[in-house]
Amino acid sequence: MAIRLGDEAPNFSAESTEGTIIFHEWLGDSWGVLFSHPADYTPVCTTELGTVAKLKGEFDQRGVKVAGLSVDSVDDHKGWISDINETQNTSVNFPLIADPERKVADLYDMIHPNAINNLTVRSVFVIDPDKKVKLTLTYPASTGRNFDEVLRVIDSLQLTATHSVATPANWKDGDDCIVVPALSDEQAKEKFPKGFTAIKPYLRITPQPNK
Ligand code: BEZ
Repeated sequence: MAIRLGDEAPNFSAESTEGTIIFHEWLGDSWGVLFSHPADYTPVCTTELGTVAKLKGEFDQRGVKVAGLSVDSVDDHKGWISDINETQNTSVNFPLIADPERKVADLYDMIHPNAINNLTVRSVFVIDPDKKVKLTLTYPASTGRNFDEVLRVIDSLQLTATHSVATPANWKDGDDCIVVPALSDEQAKEKFPKGFTAIKPYLRITPQPNK
């Protein structure tokens, strides 16, 4: 069954390169990113995991734990990590979950047989501290993901969780935001001391409120 936005992220227990992970316990009160890749010892995945390792500090700053997953074994993951570290000039610093029996892949609907047979596609799940799924992404095997985009969405999710704004197309941290339609102009005047510009009654722009 597909996982939809707002669903609780399914819990599971699985082996990883950093020991057994009971997912909900491992997440604790943090945000989380769970992402799958098709297979170990493959070129695009090698670049993706190196990229995530280099961005670990960015995820840490946002209070986000990151875990990768494929249907390979822990031993395969460990062998491949040496190659990633060597070729991507980094040190893989987050757990890679081993899912040879496809238990997690099935729970998260990560196997799309009409795309790739028996391998996980490139799924991404962003999970909030209440264990709710806030973002799902699915990429094909042939296209490496843009993890700067994952960070950008996390910035938006964390901002909009606590402020009455939404973020426009191509927004990035520090850019102007949109006043949510649920707020009246009067309420918006109170909430946003820096003011807002009404381009249309439904399109009101305000400086990012927490900057
Ligand atoms: C890759 O990561 O390079 C890859 C994995 C599976 C199919 C195609 C490419």
